[in-house]
Amino acid sequence: MKLAARAGRIVPSPTLRLMAVAKALIAQGVDVVDFASGEPDFDTPDPVKAEAEAAIRSGFTKYTASSGIDELKRAISDKLEAEQGLRYDPSQVLVSCGAKHTLYNLAEALLEAGDEVIIPTPFWVSYRDQVLLNDATPVLLETREAEGYAIDRAKLESCVTPRTKAIIVNSPCNPTGAIYDRAALEAIAEVALRHDLIVVSDEIYEKILYDGARHLSIAALGPEVAARTVVVNGVSKAYAMTGWRIGYGAGPKELITAMANIQSQSTSNPSSISQKAAVAALRSGDAFTRQMVGEFDRRRRLIVERLNKMPGISCRMPAGAFYAFPNVAGLFGRRSDRGAIATAADLADYFLKEARVAVVPGEPFGSAAHLRLSYATSVEAIRRGLDRMEAALDKLA
Ligand SMILES: Cc1ncc(COP(=O)(O)O)c(C=O)c1O
Repeated sequence: MKLAARAGRIVPSPTLRLMAVAKALIAQGVDVVDFASGEPDFDTPDPVKAEAEAAIRSGFTKYTASSGIDELKRAISDKLEAEQGLRYDPSQVLVSCGAKHTLYNLAEALLEAGDEVIIPTPFWVSYRDQVLLNDATPVLLETREAEGYAIDRAKLESCVTPRTKAIIVNSPCNPTGAIYDRAALEAIAEVALRHDLIVVSDEIYEKILYDGARHLSIAALGPEVAARTVVVNGVSKAYAMTGWRIGYGAGPKELITAMANIQSQSTSNPSSISQKAAVAALRSGDAFTRQMVGEFDRRRRLIVERLNKMPGISCRMPAGAFYAFPNVAGLFGRRSDRGAIATAADLADYFLKEARVAVVPGEPFGSAAHLRLSYATSVEAIRRGLDRMEAALDKLA
């Protein structure tokens, strides 16, 4: 069978694949500690579930407007205005089947062969593949761990070519947990304005912040920046609603309309029931999220402290999201009965087989020296997983 070339350009999402491996082993009765899953271990709040039940009972179970119901678009606009001072007409808002789908619609609406998209490394795995799926070229902008993954303005400039169409900003970042301060966002915005770039601002972890940090959307820097920015967000992470599949984009009308048209010819509307649930989530205030983040904070400190005590591993304290991203290069060259450890992927494989601990290797995030561990799991599981990792490391020669 001759498949389209684009299908051969990409790989299945490595994080979802690892999550599936871990879940399958657990289902077989194997006692695996899962640090791979990128989702809160909290349950969706009860009032959100109640709204979904009410939607089912009242027969709100049919097609909706393909781009999402007005009630949800208004809740999204109200949120963006209240929190970031951004004003969007409902025609500038598109509701999709998760933020991943929002990003995909955006890539389809914007990109064509030869276009380039700047992606700061390390990056969330799907950015690169979504660009490739749309025949465009990802241009990786390296950032350095020692500099807190800050974007170097000269390096950013050197990535821009006449074919550059967009730059992706992901603050807080999956996988590093780094956040961009106002000065960093202003530098990116200035380059985007001067070179006429679209800014894709993925803010899905905006509410998972620690140590009193506050989220600032790059679109909030001013109307000129907002006019070229698509703010991407959703309810998956902030309200523990990964399975409900609601994400959204807000931005320039022309681009949002093109994305909405693409959605109308592909998936149509996201689930009517989930849309009602998302309205309830967005209108519910931040109490649930604050409580969840308080718990994540405790786990963040525990996991980072313990990882830093492991020989050959060093780990920065993440400022946001729920991932530790330890540097494991100090272990490369060590050996076990199972073979040599030369890469992060080898180490992840060793931890899965020897310690029954699932972690994601850094390679698909654009970093060969790191592992990603989600601490969106119980303190007890974190302790158990780290104990096992320590024991497995003791066996390395
Ligand atoms: C950085 C980032 N963006 C977007 C998404 C997609 O989220 P969803 O499609 O569940 O809304 C994820 C999920 O892991 C993510 O980590």
